[in-house]
Amino acid sequence: MEKAEIGLIGLGTMGSNLALNIAEKGHRIAVYNRTPSRTDDFVAKAGDLAGRVVPCESLADLAAAIRPPRPIIIMVLAGSPVDEQIAALRGELAANDIIIDAGNANFRDTMRRFRELEGSGLTFIGMGVSGGEEGARHGPSIMVGGKEESWHRVESVLTAISAKFKGEPCAAWLGPDGAGHFVKTIHNGIEYADMQMIAEIYGILRDGLGMAPKEIGAVFAEWNKGRLNSYLIEITAEVLKADDARTGQPVVDIILDRAGQKGTGKWSAIEAQQLGIPATAIEAAVAARVLSSLRDERLAAEKIYGGGVAPITAPRETLLKQLELALFAGKIAAYAQGFAVMAGASKEFGWNLPMPTIAKIWRAGCIIRSQMLDTMAEAFGSGAASTNLLMAPDFVKLMQEAHPALRRVVALATEAGAPVPALSSALAYFDSYRQGRGTSNLIQAQRDFFGAHGFERIDEAGAFHGPWGQG
Ligand code: 6PG
Repeated sequence: MEKAEIGLIGLGTMGSNLALNIAEKGHRIAVYNRTPSRTDDFVAKAGDLAGRVVPCESLADLAAAIRPPRPIIIMVLAGSPVDEQIAALRGELAANDIIIDAGNANFRDTMRRFRELEGSGLTFIGMGVSGGEEGARHGPSIMVGGKEESWHRVESVLTAISAKFKGEPCAAWLGPDGAGHFVKTIHNGIEYADMQMIAEIYGILRDGLGMAPKEIGAVFAEWNKGRLNSYLIEITAEVLKADDARTGQPVVDIILDRAGQKGTGKWSAIEAQQLGIPATAIEAAVAARVLSSLRDERLAAEKIYGGGVAPITAPRETLLKQLELALFAGKIAAYAQGFAVMAGASKEFGWNLPMPTIAKIWRAGCIIRSQMLDTMAEAFGSGAASTNLLMAPDFVKLMQEAHPALRRVVALATEAGAPVPALSSALAYFDSYRQGRGTSNLIQAQRDFFGAHGFERIDEAGAFHGPWGQG
């Protein structure tokens, strides 16, 4: 039988869709799943593409079905299942074969796996894939980490299956070892912030303005035609319009307000802290999901303190305009933070991450794709955003226009008791960033007072101590 060009292990939602995408682009693919019935179901549902799919019953079959050197994509749950899969696969592979971990791995695990496979003759790639089910099937954004020569060995298939932005593939090699998975993690961190800010605006519309889901959906649909144009705004509009088949109520109203999370948002926040890069909007979004999960505590606290949001009575049209701009400003700050974290990691790990390329491959296919990313790609491409996105002239202009609205919205929401943790963190970041003289002089004084840590003076270089304890 004709050998396959590539293999894939793990026929869950993402794996099956990726496999179909690969087959559709003309590549013969061998597939394996630990539960064989899933492989059978997959082939049964592959339709015309089944002719390009080689179902395998064991890892040995899989290895035998692929033309060496074999590229094999692993799409299993992140964590120990990846290690188990690699361990099981190693015995079946030969020198020059390529193992590609396409799950949402923690980049530190990816770096460890690179070290563990060093000297084995096998090639390893850590690959971030974004775009959910649809993306995997019809064109995801693909973030590759590993040796550059490894990328070149799989480049043609990965660019073929990736999303395209005006014809340009949204797949790229971003750097060695953990670079691809790190960038995917930060993508998800930004995704968390973006989603949280959208939810906060939804909360203001629902609770402060008393709007119904469909009305709010219409607002988001309208915003999607303008500067906020993005996948997340588009699906928010869709979600808010949908009705529950069982009750006839808007679906969004019957969904428990408890958000799940699998780890990438938290990892973004942890890594930001480790690197000493402020990523307050991402951190706030992660914390908001955690708070959302404490439903029983929230219900008890509501009984004690009273819940709810006071009506916001500002004129609706003006307020809607401000909410749109506030979301836009918050989003810029969150992206600025995400890119700053990547710049910090790039230095720390010696990755030399290509920021313009990252912005470019996020323009289509991935969950955070948006019109704004095109402007960001230009800002990074020209070097204008090399210090911080907030310093790029195009974004200075946008922020100057939008930050007063963010301030107004945060003030209104806070006054009304509507929680806006991500929006307010984004605003606080912006306000702190633009202070030539902040308030940390006092912190330095306190540190010196209780710990003799010393401080710098504004008028002379060197380390000084205060005249404390004068009574
Ligand atoms: C993507 C998504 C995808 C997945 C996240 C969701 O880019 O396609 O980010 O990776 O939906 O894992 O993460 P949570 O379950 O943590 O929200």
